[in-house]
Amino acid sequence: MGGADETPFARGGTPSPRRAGGARVLVVDDSPGIRSYLADLLELRGYRVDTAEDGRSALALLEAGAAPDVVLLDVMMPGQDGLATLRQVHELRPELPVVMLSVVGQARTIVEAMEGGASDYLNKPIDEDELEATLRSVLRRRLLEDERRALRERVTDPDAAIWESPALRSIRSMIDQIADTDVTVLVTGESGTGKEIVARALHRASSRRCRAFVKVNCAALPAELLESELFGYERGAFTGAAGRKQGRFELAHGGTIFLDEIGEMSPPLQAKLLQVLQESAFTRLGSNREIRVDVRVVCATHRDLHQMVREGHFREDLYYRLNVVKIAIPPLRERPEDLRRLVEVFLDRYSAHYRRPRPSLSPVLWRALEAHRFPGNVRELGNLMQRLVLLGDEAAVLEALRPEGAATGDRLGELLRELEESAGALPLREVGRRAALEAERQIIEQALVRTGWNRKQAARLLGVSYKTILQKIRECELSPGRGA
Ligand SMILES: Nc1ncnc2c1ncn2[C@@H]1O[C@H](COP(=O)(O)OP(=O)(O)OP(=O)(O)O)[C@@H](O)[C@H]1O
Ligand SMILES: [Mg+2]
Repeated sequence: MGGADETPFARGGTPSPRRAGGARVLVVDDSPGIRSYLADLLELRGYRVDTAEDGRSALALLEAGAAPDVVLLDVMMPGQDGLATLRQVHELRPELPVVMLSVVGQARTIVEAMEGGASDYLNKPIDEDELEATLRSVLRRRLLEDERRALRERVTDPDAAIWESPALRSIRSMIDQIADTDVTVLVTGESGTGKEIVARALHRASSRRCRAFVKVNCAALPAELLESELFGYERGAFTGAAGRKQGRFELAHGGTIFLDEIGEMSPPLQAKLLQVLQESAFTRLGSNREIRVDVRVVCATHRDLHQMVREGHFREDLYYRLNVVKIAIPPLRERPEDLRRLVEVFLDRYSAHYRRPRPSLSPVLWRALEAHRFPGNVRELGNLMQRLVLLGDEAAVLEALRPEGAATGDRLGELLRELEESAGALPLREVGRRAALEAERQIIEQALVRTGWNRKQAARLLGVSYKTILQKIRECELSPGRGA
């Protein structure tokens, strides 16, 4: 897993408004009595509670990926005290609110804590209503912050998607309509069409956006490994299971799980997934304890799942369970309206990224792009634009866009094959003449392509007169449409 979005836990998630009570609280206090009192109290009020007995173990939990929405932190603890812990928590998760717990008479420390970034404080013995009110207000502030951040990201995010063509615009409005419904969504489309972009857009448009987006590539792991990856295991569940491990479904709690390449999932695992989806619960391998999760499931495949069902390779019941809403992304060649904006976005992105001048495209290259079939879809276009920015030269890109069989190398190959077939019937001098002509033709063509078919410039590049190049173009039957 790579990008920031892919961390198993959202960096300190925030409860969505509709699950305000389900927020996660991390209680850090050295007194077991206070820990269990607070845990019971908060759980009773619908919070999810984790506890840590000192600053060090609280930090260890956060470093391991725990994502509380708020921390209740005791000021006075043996070993590392609350203020030092506050500083470290703040460094690790600047946006995570911390409420300090203190006994009356520690006013100075409280002032220091507030200056050090604490969100609020509570006096012990704790007043239950005050605790509730403080948590609510801290969480509300946090929610607003996150919403503001999400809005900012939408404007400046380098991954922001283009929804230009009518096809994509209707997909975008479908995403907005169903984002908050929690229905399972199946995204289909050829490789590189933007299935993952759609899955992420769904997550971001939903109130789960501040929670984790967990991606699992079902094609990347063998079946048994995939099972333990999805559902986790207990220590000793199988040879090599040295410790307990949470599964991705658990990590995605409150958020979205993206099951990529779902068509590659093995039949036994398909059966288990179906059961999990029906019951919203599962058990870790080697355990009987049922774990309930609130996870939105989005799947993607480049395969024809329906066909796989007919052929008996994919469970029909699972297919219907996953395919509640289907979003089929058309290939890029069927939505030419997207080409121009995508090219612009990629050129902006890569020239900023590599700090190179932003190239502009010659009409010849535009024509070549418009005529290309893009078997690799948007990803292929992105790679081409990346190459263009890096090399600063259209020739290589045009070369990559040549229709198959028209590659320059192939013409010499053809000549060789012809020679083989005629088996010595051609005198060597004739072979040399034709090879030289072919090489000359190629060089002239490349010069023309490189200069965007500016014949004067091409002549200068080749060190011949304008008249000569016009003559050669005629002789070699070159035309702008042909190379591109
Ligand atoms: N509408 C779009 N706007 C901007 N970028 C896009 C769009 N669609 C796809 N891309 C870009 O194209 C690339 C491929 O997209 P993505 O990974 O979502 O495709 P995919 O369908 O999941 O491909 P694969 O089947 O190979 O996994 C990514 O770099 C993505 O950012
Ligand atoms: Mg993908």
